[in-house]
Order: sequence, then C-alpha cells, then structure tokens
Amino acid sequence: MSYPYQIKTQAQYHQAYARSVQEPEAFWSDIADHFVWKKKWDRVLDWNFTEPRVAWFSGAQLNITENCLDRHLPDKSDQPAIIWEPNDPSEPNRILTYGDLHRQVCLFAQVLLNNGIKKGDRVCIYMGMVPELAIAVLACARIGAIHSVIFGGFSAQSISDRLQDAGASCIVTCDGAFRGAKDIPLKAVIDEALTGNTIVNTVLVYARTRTGVSMIKGRDHWWDEEMEKASQQVLESGSLLPAATMEAEDPLFILYTSGSTGKPKGVVHTQAGYMIWANYTFVNVFQYQPGQIHFCTADIGWITGHSYILYGPLSAGATTLMFEGIPTWPDPGRFWNIVDKYKVNILYTAPTAIRSLMSFGLDPLANKDLSSLQVLGTVGEPINEEAWHWYHQQVGKGDCPIVDTWWQTETGGCLISNMAGVTPGIPAWASLPLPGVQPILVDENGKECVEPDEKGIVKGNLCMRFPWPGILRTTYGDHERCRTNYFATYPGLYFTGDGALRDANGNYRITGRVDDVLNVSGHRLGTAEVENAINMHAGVVESAVVGYPHEIKGQGVYAYVIVEHLHGDETQMRRDILQTVSQQIGPIAKPDKIQFVSGLPKTRSGKIMRRILRKIAEGELAQLGDTSTLLDPAVVEEIAKGRIV
Ligand code: WTA
Repeated sequence: MSYPYQIKTQAQYHQAYARSVQEPEAFWSDIADHFVWKKKWDRVLDWNFTEPRVAWFSGAQLNITENCLDRHLPDKSDQPAIIWEPNDPSEPNRILTYGDLHRQVCLFAQVLLNNGIKKGDRVCIYMGMVPELAIAVLACARIGAIHSVIFGGFSAQSISDRLQDAGASCIVTCDGAFRGAKDIPLKAVIDEALTGNTIVNTVLVYARTRTGVSMIKGRDHWWDEEMEKASQQVLESGSLLPAATMEAEDPLFILYTSGSTGKPKGVVHTQAGYMIWANYTFVNVFQYQPGQIHFCTADIGWITGHSYILYGPLSAGATTLMFEGIPTWPDPGRFWNIVDKYKVNILYTAPTAIRSLMSFGLDPLANKDLSSLQVLGTVGEPINEEAWHWYHQQVGKGDCPIVDTWWQTETGGCLISNMAGVTPGIPAWASLPLPGVQPILVDENGKECVEPDEKGIVKGNLCMRFPWPGILRTTYGDHERCRTNYFATYPGLYFTGDGALRDANGNYRITGRVDDVLNVSGHRLGTAEVENAINMHAGVVESAVVGYPHEIKGQGVYAYVIVEHLHGDETQMRRDILQTVSQQIGPIAKPDKIQFVSGLPKTRSGKIMRRILRKIAEGELAQLGDTSTLLDPAVVEEIAKGRIV
C-alpha cells in the first residue's frame, strides 16, 4: 500500500495547502477515495460554527475496522500490525500480525454481541496497555458500539462519573495492570466505581496480573472464556463476524477531557472524518513508509494513543509498537532498549518524558544502537529548546527530523506541525498548519491580530476558522456545553484555549493555555476540577489552584487552601488532602505544593484573582501589579510571605 496523498516536498505542501483552502470539498473527496466505503457520500461537507454543526461525507457508509484490518489482509496478513513489549523485559513479547489482529477483533466483537451489546451502546474500557486493549477498542468499532477508554490512572470516582455521563452498559477491564514496579488493581477500582451503578450489566475481565478479583455472578465474565465460546461459534458457522455498516457521522468514540469548568467532558468523534484525519496526519506528519516500525509511547487512554498507536497507523497498514511499561523501569534506558531491540524507525513521545530521561544523563544511552531511528516526534505540551536539542543530538544523533505536533483531544489529530524531512522543523515551534487547517489569532475581543511586533511576530489567542475532518462534533449528552466551551468565546470560530505566536513565514509557536487548564506532564487538568477535589476534604473551606513552571512536568500544581483549623500538623493535613485528590480524580492530579492561607485575593465581586496567585507561585513577587482594588489587599502580602519554594 502506498499513499498517493503523501506530500513529499515543500512545494507539494504549499500546493496541497492552497488547494485545501480554495476547494476543500474536492481536496478531501480526492483523499477519501483511497479508503474503503460501503457506500460513498452524498455531500463532502456541511458546517456551521454557530450551532455548531459539522458533518463530513454525509450519506457515506463504512466501517473503520475494514479500513484498519480487512483491507490489509490480501497482502499483509502476515505482517506485524502490533508489536507488544511487556512491562517486564524478561517476559516474552507478543506480535500480532494483521491476520491475528483481524481474527481477535472479530472474535471479541462476537463476544460483545453475545453479551447483548448493540450498535450505539457505550462501552467503557479501563485496561492496562495490553494488546487486548487494542482488540477491545477495535471490536467496539466493528459492531458500532461507542468506546470510551478511561486511562488506568483515574480513580473509582472519576470512572463512576464517566460511566454515568456516558450511560455505559458494559465495561472491559483487566484484573490488574503492570506499570513499572507496581501492580495496579484495575478490577477492584471498577468494583468500587460500580457501587450504586444500575446501568452497567456486563463486565468483561482480561486476566493479566492474576491478582485475586471478585467476579460477580451474571455480571462479570472472563475474557478467555468468552473468547473460547466465540471461537466455537465461528467454527460452527465457518465465518468471522462481518463489520457493521456505520453512517459517516455515527459516533465512533467518546474521550473525556478536562476543561476550565466543572467535570471533564466527553469529546465525541465520528467515523469517517476522524478516520481520514488520523490517517492523513499519520502518513504526512511522520512520513510513514511501508515496513517501518512506529513507536508512539502514549497510553491508549489518551487521544494520542487513539490516533497514533491505533487508528492512524492501522488504517495505514503500518506496524505499531505498543509498550506496557514506563520509560524509567527497570532502568532509564528502557526506551532505548526498545528502539534497539525492534529497530524502531519513528519515535513519538512527550517533552515531559524527554526531560525526565535527560535528567539521568547520557549513561542510559551508552551502547544502545539507535541508528534505526529516522523520525522523532513530540506532543502534549510546548517543548523547551534544551529538551529539543537533547532529543535531536543524543537520540536522533543530529540526523532525524523532529516533528513538534500541536493538537488536542478535540482536534482528533495533529493540526499544526512540520512534516518530517518535508517542511523545516524549528526548535520550540510547532511550525505550519497542515492542509485543511486554517488558524487565526485573535485578541480578547475576538478581533483578528495582524500587527506584528518589531521582530515580525504576531501574538494572540489561537482559533480555527474552518472545520477539518477530525474536529469534535459534540460533547456527549450536552451539545450546549460544546457550543459554549469551544464556539461561543469568539463567534464563528473554534477556540483552542491556547495562546500562540506567528512569525512572518506563517510558523506558529504555541505558548500554552490561556484558560484555566493546566498541562501537567502533558496531561490536561482543569483548575476547577482539582479545586473541587480539594474542597471535598473535610475541614477545607476554600481553595485556589494554579500552575507554575516545573522542570520535568512542564507545569506543576500549586494549591492555596483555606482550612477551618488544622487537625494535627500541616504535614498530616497535606497528606490527607493529597489522598482526597487521588480518590476524587487520580494520582496525576495531586498538587505538588499546598500552602495553607487565611484568605484568597478576591475582587469586590468575589472573583479569585488567579493572576496574582500565579505570580506568587512563579516567585515573581515584584510583579503582583495593582492589588488596591482587592477586597482584602493585606492577604496578598501574607500569601507571598508564606510561599512554598
Ligand atoms: C498542549 C494532546 C505545545 C496544548 C494531543 C493543547 C501542545 C493541549 C502541543 C491538548 C505542542 C499539545 N506544543 N502545546 N506540540 N501539543 N499541546 O487534549 O495546550 O491532551 O491545548 O491533547 O496540550 O492536550 P490534549
């Protein structure tokens, strides 16, 4: 399989970009012609950002698993689709060819049907990084059930909220997951999340860690036993399960992500547009060549894993490497061992992982053959220049282009990125918009920013003025929330929540979130979400959470907390608050610093002045600005004095 729509030169990029703007419908329908359809579309694009309403390829019918699996069978059934590297390097690895993966997916799709799951039902998947996670995701897609993968680090409370919001009737999980030296009891967390839940009637459990688990009669079933039954059915019928017919705009999955207000929202992606976007960006950004081994280190619990471990690579007939463990276990040379062992060609990871590995020096890289690497990528947060150069020199040996891919859960795939070896990479700049992407920078009032500063740079809030095929369609169960979150701040535009710079050549540099969302180790956290979790703790009166620069995580979480009175000492109270946050959200949301304060800086109308709290957390005490309009200016001084370094 070659990719006729793969851009090979800078001139081709400019040509493709111009056409994608001038005649988007013709542009995307030419690309869509290279996919497998059960029925072609009546209309390429129908959109309106006010409602908002976006529909790509309306009238078309397809199944994404036919594009990811069936179409590769004639010439790739023996080629590895998924190479799986276990957490413990002494355990055998697993390689699933396209033939194997197709068969497993069809069997598990049958299992879902046998358990009463139908097209449109929501299935939550809470598993470690085992091949069965990929199989479960694709099996849902095969029968048209809507999958919602929940990252294995989220707490029972978080899962419970998501189950409720999605109205999920089925969960696929594991007994436990191995992550580094830890053995995480996933099924026990699910059991806790299901207390009081009356909608989930099926839990399918894959045995990975062999930890003891409770299995409730009638509700809980073992993966292996169910697969055995499905195999029998296939033997009897003589055929594997065909793929369900899906409409282009039927939902494919829900993925929960944090915003600036309230609980995480369920971002909805649909069948055809998402597939084409994941595929097109995979093939072009990474310049994938058939036969190459692509290693994306993300977890499938995040959008990066959805698009660049599963749907992008598999729809392109690629070989994708899936790693169960963490970069620093059993030692910080683990990524390099994996690259060496499998002769990885493309490595895609997060700046936070690079910075963390940098901190171990060069020893872990010694004697590792990294010469197979051809393309490096980063995602999830701005990459600082130091990390960029280290990645370029020490990992890529100065020889591999780095693609700095800017995108979001809501965008389905990369929007702004250089294309490996095709368009130039600039340290710390995501660079150019991909074909189909029309960015615009606006000021607070929504007015387009066009005036460059003395260096030729324009600065503003990053929006999009035209839909691309992978844009979110709604937030599950609450379309109004989708509208107010993304389409109402600047009428007629999709607002990303990020700030950006643009140079005279049209390159973009993302400067970070301009809303109340934190980016901790490449993971999104809403300040309100963390505050709500802290406020759950008995004795906490009020709290305010801000981000501050953190050497490895990018941003750390700084919490200012008012308590009724301290029970025990401060250390004990801090521990209890951390435990509460772990319980409410998960360990990833635990504040790095907790400062007990007697009040918070508020305006006369009661709004917390986060700007001041951010400055204090950053240690910029000289730049607190005018505090005279505050309700209680004295509190600022007290907070600044008690700042935790
Ligand atoms: C940030 C992850 C700078 C950004 C795919 C965005 C980045 C948020 C980059 C989305 C990048 C992602 N440079 N910042 N290359 N990539 N971001 O939804 O703030 O987990 O809005 O999607 O991460 O995070 P999400």
